[in-house]
Amino acid sequence: MILLAPPLAGKSTQAGPVAGRLGVPHVSTGELLRAHTERDTGIGRAAAAHMARGELVPDDLVLALVADRLSEDEVAHGVVLDGVPRDLAQAEALDAHPRSRPDLVLLLDVPDAEVRRRASGRRRCPNGHVYHLTDRPPAVAGRCDVDREPLAHRDDDRPEAVERRLSEYRNRTGPVVDHYRRRGILRLIDARGTPDEVTARVLAALS
Ligand code: AP5
Repeated sequence: MILLAPPLAGKSTQAGPVAGRLGVPHVSTGELLRAHTERDTGIGRAAAAHMARGELVPDDLVLALVADRLSEDEVAHGVVLDGVPRDLAQAEALDAHPRSRPDLVLLLDVPDAEVRRRASGRRRCPNGHVYHLTDRPPAVAGRCDVDREPLAHRDDDRPEAVERRLSEYRNRTGPVVDHYRRRGILRLIDARGTPDEVTARVLAALS
């Protein structure tokens, strides 16, 4: 299945409960790309400037990363995809392979004003655990609850990059929403409210 949403709508927050309910791994293209930029690999260097500006990374690069991950035995019985597809070319590439052709797409819906609010308060540890200064604070300020690593504000959570990400979502991911709506596999989830309220709606949509 696929979690589709505007930036900061809560995909990574909801992916854990969804993957747990379905008993399959969670694969986030944003996290795959950040792992490369943090290790300063060739892929990371090719992606970094696009990501910092809030633009989509080129399709060939993202699709190669996804194909590589989907070739692993761990995802043989299903996967929760988060952050892909971002445009029609990616949606068509996923449809072409049995391991990535979705049976269900959940669209987490939040207004732009809430996206901007979440961006200013999000903090992330280097291993991808996500917090929010007011809505989901860590137990100890500035430190991850899971691994005690320091928390940081993502470069692409700056206001200019957030506006670019919203515009990329409207222009390039909008047609993907229509693509899945036409296939009859899209479920719209109201992603406003507390994280637990949203999780309850997401799990209800799965059952
Ligand atoms: P990616 O990391 O996928 O960014 P995104 O889609 O913009 O999503 P985010 O990770 O920002 O947010 P999220 O929806 O996971 O929200 P979260 O749970 O953290 O991609 C980053 C970049 O990589 C892209 O811009 C692009 O450059 C590139 N990229 C990635 N995939 C690509 C692809 N397929 N093709 C091309 N380029 C690609 O929650 C956000 C915050 O809100 C957190 O602080 C959280 O604690 C809080 N929060 C969550 N839920 C709630 C709630 N219900 N109430 C209050 N606060 C909440």
